[in-house]
Amino acid sequence: MQQRGVQCAATDVLVTNGSQQVLDLVGKLFLNPGDVVLTENPTYLAAIQAFQTLEAKFVPVPTDEHGLVPSALPELIAKHRPKFLYTIPNFQNPTGVTLIAERRRELARIAAEHGLVIVEDDPYGKLRYAGEAVPPIKHWDERGLVLYASTFSKTIAPGLRLGWVVASPEVFSRLLILKQASDLHTSSFDQRVAHAFLTQNDQSVHLDKIRRAYGDRFQIMDEALRAEMPAGFSWTKPEGGMFLWITGPQGLDGLKLLERAITRQVAFVPGRDFFPAEGGANHLRLNFSNSTPERIREGVKRLATICRELAAS
Ligand SMILES: Cc1ncc(COP(=O)(O)O)c(C=O)c1O
Repeated sequence: MQQRGVQCAATDVLVTNGSQQVLDLVGKLFLNPGDVVLTENPTYLAAIQAFQTLEAKFVPVPTDEHGLVPSALPELIAKHRPKFLYTIPNFQNPTGVTLIAERRRELARIAAEHGLVIVEDDPYGKLRYAGEAVPPIKHWDERGLVLYASTFSKTIAPGLRLGWVVASPEVFSRLLILKQASDLHTSSFDQRVAHAFLTQNDQSVHLDKIRRAYGDRFQIMDEALRAEMPAGFSWTKPEGGMFLWITGPQGLDGLKLLERAITRQVAFVPGRDFFPAEGGANHLRLNFSNSTPERIREGVKRLATICRELAAS
């Protein structure tokens, strides 16, 4: 956490079963049916699931290519009395957009002024392959209102199920009780495996390797999209993470596109599922971290062909 620009003690860090468990615990702690959560729109599918299970209401915060627009918050806070703001500031899932530093500072300031809790979900921050690293919002958190969550899922292995949350003592003690009620503790065997991996290997070598690979693969996908996609499609250019976000023409049906794509061995996540309310049918989330350059080129070619076929039908 110190490397990430957050001063905290080991006793401020609760180890969890992936960062997904943080969302579950935080939801249980703060949300009653009908309570409002502020989010980016679109936002992480399984955060929607975690908070929807608790019958929360989602209110979108305006965003642009630099992430959340902090100046929109005071009005939303006054109108909806949200229990917290849930945000993914680095290489957001699903859009790949990163919140710029000035806005992080401003968000922390507004949160402090209004007593707004921020749940900062940062699974991808270590996967930056371009641009300058930016400290987390938690870096500017003077009142202990920011709960910072991260995970080893994207840097070691998702199957380990190891994540953590940094919270103020007041929140920590309550999360700890919820964690105990849920599963007593996170597997100490798995924690030792991660500890051995982190102490017996040079993390920076491993991270450099995956960052370089992901950066190259993003470039290849971006070039392939530019070469292949029909007019009317645009996409984000993330500086890290694992995916980019395509916006297609109005009327595009991402689900229909997926049905056809699957028959040609191409998969993506249709955008619809990342929107708590309606909308999003004309968006697709494409992963570039997992496939070889050849498969990325071939996959994009097939996807573009299906897009043209659908437009013509
Ligand atoms: C934004 C975000 N938060 C949380 C998670 C959950 O990750 P894990 O529970 O594996 O740490 C993911 C996984 O994809 C994610 O994209």
